[in-house]
Amino acid sequence: MMDEALGLLPGYVLHAFETIDSTNDEAKRLARAGAAAGTLVWARAQSGGRGRRDREWVSPWGNLYLSIVVRPEAPQFEAAQLSFVAGLAVFDAIMGLVPELDGRLTLKWPNDILLDGAKCAGLLLESDRDGWLVVGIGINVASAPVIPGRETSCLGSAAQPPATGRFVEAIVSCWDCHLSDWRTHGFGPVREDWLDHSAYLGERIAVTLADETLTGIFVGLDEMGGLLLRQGEGAPRLILAGDVFAATQTGL
Ligand code: BTN
Repeated sequence: MMDEALGLLPGYVLHAFETIDSTNDEAKRLARAGAAAGTLVWARAQSGGRGRRDREWVSPWGNLYLSIVVRPEAPQFEAAQLSFVAGLAVFDAIMGLVPELDGRLTLKWPNDILLDGAKCAGLLLESDRDGWLVVGIGINVASAPVIPGRETSCLGSAAQPPATGRFVEAIVSCWDCHLSDWRTHGFGPVREDWLDHSAYLGERIAVTLADETLTGIFVGLDEMGGLLLRQGEGAPRLILAGDVFAATQTGL
């Protein structure tokens, strides 16, 4: 465990490690053992970092790996909205710490952050019927590990970001604020805020699903955060899971 002192809001308890298998796995172990909402797991490096769809998340020293235990007290489907709450929190935390990036960061559905169109951060949310949810956050601060088929970037290539501990403090503070707004005002303002920073809104995109690729215009999010894809006349198609690309990137 590390003993670097961080300034965290009351109610948050930090478990900090030099290296761990995965901060999400440790947060899940703690949640299963009864850890309270606000339990944080931060590591300087991960030996078994995981991304969405069972992908590896290469996790060298210098980047940010943080997981937050949440107890949403909301039905599972509403908890899905927390992925957008978390995306906004990470977006705001980065902007607060690295304001030089103004205008260069966007949010990509469902929960990536892009710098100049290339992925610099990702979120992995995992939950259980026990009522806990773990929000895992990876930010490429110092280096941009290669992800096959995807362009990646890191904050350090565009600016001089502060130490990763400052990201932990800023994310916790932005998370707390957006979570409390979501609890008070619901998903509507979160969706609007998210769409204000969205990549590809109104543009032609390709969405890869498990066994097919769809193309159309990204016209918005539904009330649960599903992606609305207009493919012709009639109601847009609702997509609940998939990977989004600019159609030009895929040649479709
Ligand atoms: C993705 O974009 O595929 C999601 C990446 C999530 C990575 C973070 S790093 C901290 C936490 N621990 C993990 O093993 N994964 C998440």
